[in-house]
Amino acid sequence: MQVWAVANQKGGVGKTTTVVSIAGLLSEVGYRVLMVDLDPHGSLTSYFRFDPDEIELSAYDLFERPDLSSSQVNSLIVKTDSENIDLLPASTALATLERKAVGKEGLGLQVAKALRFLKDRYDYVIIDSPPVLGVLMVNALAACNHLIIPVQTEFLALKGLERMIRTIDMINRARKAKLNYTILPTFYDRRTQASVSSLRELHNVYGEKVSGAVVPVDTKFRNASIKGVVPSTLDSGSRGVHAYARLLRNLLEHRKGA
Ligand SMILES: Nc1ncnc2c1ncn2[C@@H]1O[C@H](COP(=O)(O)OP(=O)(O)OP(=O)(O)O)[C@@H](O)[C@H]1O
Ligand SMILES: [Mg+2]
Repeated sequence: MQVWAVANQKGGVGKTTTVVSIAGLLSEVGYRVLMVDLDPHGSLTSYFRFDPDEIELSAYDLFERPDLSSSQVNSLIVKTDSENIDLLPASTALATLERKAVGKEGLGLQVAKALRFLKDRYDYVIIDSPPVLGVLMVNALAACNHLIIPVQTEFLALKGLERMIRTIDMINRARKAKLNYTILPTFYDRRTQASVSSLRELHNVYGEKVSGAVVPVDTKFRNASIKGVVPSTLDSGSRGVHAYARLLRNLLEHRKGA
């Protein structure tokens, strides 16, 4: 089982869209996929028509007790309408965690521990995280084998990214294996100077860490979210879906080479 996290301390950069797009493409080739929503806003959960305000069992329950059981973890998972894609949903209660976690040791590995019970049930786990450095993002980074950092190609794109890279350095001090990551340029519009120059700057500063796949501005993503389906189901030929398919090919190649 591979675990990928999608994170950036900046909001609205396409994190949730990346989770949904990749989950859709992986499921279409027959992989069993679990998405984990660690964002208290629950956008990923809402995408699949579950209500983060009403949901009873959620990722929050992973933090209630330090000792987790396999049946408890399995009972938190719901099926989505998309074949082969399950969801461990978020509830708004997750928002209270940051406060409760203060001074409590060991909450940073709760998601990693929970996923150990699921290694025979899924081929891929994709974690969505909130745009805030806190216990939830730390859990996502501690649990994953690979991190995808979507970065909006706009003015000052690199500023937010620097903060994220510092966070990775901090996490790496606590991890056995160094966390590998891919920077994914998003919202690219080649007609705008801000997109073109920020992409060039990303390449200059981060070199091969920047994905060859660049996600363009594509209104189909919004249309897919309105319908509650993964983007590749709505339109498998769209430019946005093509970009995510390319990212996925690169990530799978990377795994083979690793
Ligand atoms: N490449 C794109 N082109 C056009 N619209 C996009 C693109 N990617 C995402 N969107 C839209 O932009 C909005 C924000 O995207 P998304 O929710 O994926 O960002 P996020 O990083 O998860 O945000 P947050 O930090 O609030 O969780 C959504 O309405 C989504 O449909
Ligand atoms: Mg999101």
